[in-house]
Amino acid sequence: MTELLRVAGLRKSFHSAARAVDDVELTVAEGGSLGLVGESGSGKSTVARMLAGLERPDSGEITLAGESLVDRPRGRRGRLARAKAVQMVFQDPYLSLDPAVTVGRCLDGVLRLHGWSDRPQRHVRVVELLDQVGLEASKQHALPRELSGGQRQRVAIARAVAVQPRLLVLDEAVSALDVSVQAQILRLLAGLRRETGTAQLFISHDLAVVNEVTDTVAVLLRGRVVEQGATRDVLRAPRHPYVRLLKDSIPRVGWDPADIASRRASLLGARP
Ligand SMILES: Nc1ncnc2c1ncn2[C@@H]1O[C@H](COP(=O)(O)OP(=O)(O)O)[C@@H](O)[C@H]1O
Ligand SMILES: [Mg+2]
Repeated sequence: MTELLRVAGLRKSFHSAARAVDDVELTVAEGGSLGLVGESGSGKSTVARMLAGLERPDSGEITLAGESLVDRPRGRRGRLARAKAVQMVFQDPYLSLDPAVTVGRCLDGVLRLHGWSDRPQRHVRVVELLDQVGLEASKQHALPRELSGGQRQRVAIARAVAVQPRLLVLDEAVSALDVSVQAQILRLLAGLRRETGTAQLFISHDLAVVNEVTDTVAVLLRGRVVEQGATRDVLRAPRHPYVRLLKDSIPRVGWDPADIASRRASLLGARP
């Protein structure tokens, strides 16, 4: 395994959360897919935002292919290089897509920003990107509101992969979608990883979803990684009691919510 991303000793505090991210260590293999799992408030998005350079760590190391990503990039070239290293896809593409800009112009703009100066070449690339995410070429003329939730998320993914980043960070990227659409997007992401070799950090509170698309997984509890390993092994036989609780919390036949609630209270204390 060649290592692409290494995170070590990563910490971040906020006034409201003294240890939002507390000494986190992670690795993602070249072309690999790491799942980052944890309940709401466990620090997943804060980790993601630090990887994408949207938030500065209090301390710790983030290196991508041996280069540090902690320092704020300098100048236009530095910012573009940073964007080429790590791209993010968020839960709600409505908030990240400009409502007044067609799909084609949105993708065209990203390419232009990254130095694609030839208009016909950009056009070919836009159609290719749409095809890569399973959208017809005619969708380039659509505005975000003319698309379904799943189609909008496909556009957000196309925009993120347009510059061929080394790492794609997906923060709850399928969480707002219907289960059937979710399955389609998961298949798309697995296919993109095979075709492009772009590594993925897949953030989700949903163990079943993580099981579908990741090779390795790290579980966060209150800002700390409590278990990490091959997804198959961790989900089949979790060692940490909290991870066992997460696994047993997935509703299934014979499932006892009262038992889960009492195990939760004894493990985590009476937290809201
Ligand atoms: N910009 C911020 N300002 C203040 N507190 C924050 C900020 N971002 C996150 N937090 C706090 O850090 C903790 C972790 O949040 P977050 O990383 O969003 O968790 P998750 O994505 O796992 O739900 C929470 O207690 C949250 O309130
Ligand atoms: Mg989050």
